Amino acid sequence: SKNSLGLKINGKDYTLDADPNMPVLWAIRDIVGLTGTKFGCGAGLCGACTVHVDGQPQRACLTSLKQVQGKQVTTIEGLTFEPLKRAWREHNVPQCGYCQAGQLMSAAALLTQTAQPTERQIDEAMAGNLCRCGTYTRIKAAIQTASG
Ligand code: FES
Repeated sequence: SKNSLGLKINGKDYTLDADPNMPVLWAIRDIVGLTGTKFGCGAGLCGACTVHVDGQPQRACLTSLKQVQGKQVTTIEGLTFEPLKRAWREHNVPQCGYCQAGQLMSAAALLTQTAQPTERQIDEAMAGNLCRCGTYTRIKAAIQTASG
């Protein structure tokens, strides 16, 4: 069944005619047309679809539209964390790039909460974000650079 649902993405308000159980990932990509957030596994296992919901990292493939009613969703297109983006470029982090939006969203959430994370805190925060190219060493180095 379809309802009229509000969706706030990157500070913009959208009204969607969609099933409230639709994963936010589909709404972001297929309805709103923001394709920076990626579909990897669709089961909460890879982290490619990570967005922020009220500043917290969340898997958009497992989050329904009804769960984000009245909340702020931030995607990679809306990420304004310049030191982190700069560090990512400095370290040439991406290889194929597919997982990187999710990696950046998880890293940004970590650094917003913990400005100077320990190596262990980085490992814990990033454990749910998989990279088939194995860019993990550069991801960690970029997070450390951004944490100054
Ligand atoms: Fe959502 Fe893999 S696509 S965790």
